[in-house]
Amino acid sequence: MILKGNFIWAPALDQLEVREHAWLVTEGEKIIGLYDQLPPEYAGQSVTDWGEAIIIPGFNDMHIHAPQFPNRGIGYDVRLLEWLETYTFPLEARYRDIEFAEQVWKRFLNRLWATGTLRFSAFATIHKDAAWRLMELTEQAGLRGLVGKVNMDRNAPDNLREETEQSLADTEELICRSREELKHVGLILTPRFVPSTTAKLMDGLGQLGEKYDVPVQSHLSENPSEVQWVKELHPDIPTYTQVYEAFGLLRQDKTIMAHGIYLSDGEKEILREKGVLLAHCPFSNSNVSSGVMPLRRDLEEGLRCCVASDVAGGHTAAMNRSVAAAAALSKLNWLNHPEERHLKVTESFHLATRASGAFFGQVGCFEPGFDFDALVVMPDRLDDLLERTPVERLEQFLYDGDDRHIAARYCGGALVEQPFTL
Ligand code: GUN
Ligand code: FE
Repeated sequence: MILKGNFIWAPALDQLEVREHAWLVTEGEKIIGLYDQLPPEYAGQSVTDWGEAIIIPGFNDMHIHAPQFPNRGIGYDVRLLEWLETYTFPLEARYRDIEFAEQVWKRFLNRLWATGTLRFSAFATIHKDAAWRLMELTEQAGLRGLVGKVNMDRNAPDNLREETEQSLADTEELICRSREELKHVGLILTPRFVPSTTAKLMDGLGQLGEKYDVPVQSHLSENPSEVQWVKELHPDIPTYTQVYEAFGLLRQDKTIMAHGIYLSDGEKEILREKGVLLAHCPFSNSNVSSGVMPLRRDLEEGLRCCVASDVAGGHTAAMNRSVAAAAALSKLNWLNHPEERHLKVTESFHLATRASGAFFGQVGCFEPGFDFDALVVMPDRLDDLLERTPVERLEQFLYDGDDRHIAARYCGGALVEQPFTL
């Protein structure tokens, strides 16, 4: 495949690459090269010319709750634990009904596709059949990523609490089934958070992680009451991070922890050593008043961080808006902590493309050997009145773009059409 356009990507936090009017050549899933002049060997082959459009990497949303998609924007005047009890758990209990699940999953995947999230790591619910259906539909949609059957065997309503052994057996079944039947979607171990999972369940999940070498995702240190609760539940383990560590749930370079707002230096040391990816979710942190993650400081201290939506703590799956919000929140934080430079929106863009894509391998750059994941972003309707550089158009798309600006999506080297008609 050969594409022509204005390519922009962020290979590192402080680095933005721009190649105007360039040719990109792919073969299968991979990028072969990006050229200012089309090499003669490709002469005569058909070229998709995207004109003045900018072409950017697809978004990777490393923390999103698919079942909470119908709750976007609802009930944010309470804080985390009350919000879970009042709004989240009653909705999640409904996914015992596979018909309901299927209807939501199709809408969810259509929306991710529309807004340019091409890969993700999602929580499903405790329900094995619903989680499996989400995995199948994601693969069918041409999108890629990881899906977690949530594990919860304590501090949950009766209709959302599992037997420990059953929870482990269901999880193991999905690991094996997805490896046999799917190519681009895998299972990620998903203890909801420490308060919902007994020591026995966490231990069993840690063992499954070792046995099958599967990744892990969960929540960490999101809200002060939650942190306090974890201390009470595990009085003999000094910190929240060490609870996960004690049960083998910080798997080297294969773990995503959402939030991580209230971390001690000792916890950060562990997270850094284990290569844990911290998913910063700016909308969620403000919607349910969780706190402000010291993102710049964490990055400077060598922690791996990315930007994610956390729907439905976050109110939108549109990752361009989370990218802009991470920069905005970082500026408010900077006003209170002038020693912490604020994040630029192009840095936040890196965190939602390359930094997150690294969890899947060579994803998030337009360089040879990378998987070709891309969004074709059309000029704004005002661009014919004013000259805008490609970078200015990127900034404007991040702040005020929406799915109407995205003319095409490529994932793993293939054009992806709207997955489902409803
Ligand atoms: N902590 C435990 N469960 C959840 C959840 O569903 N959303 C968020 N934001 N935090 C959690
Ligand atoms: Fe979450």
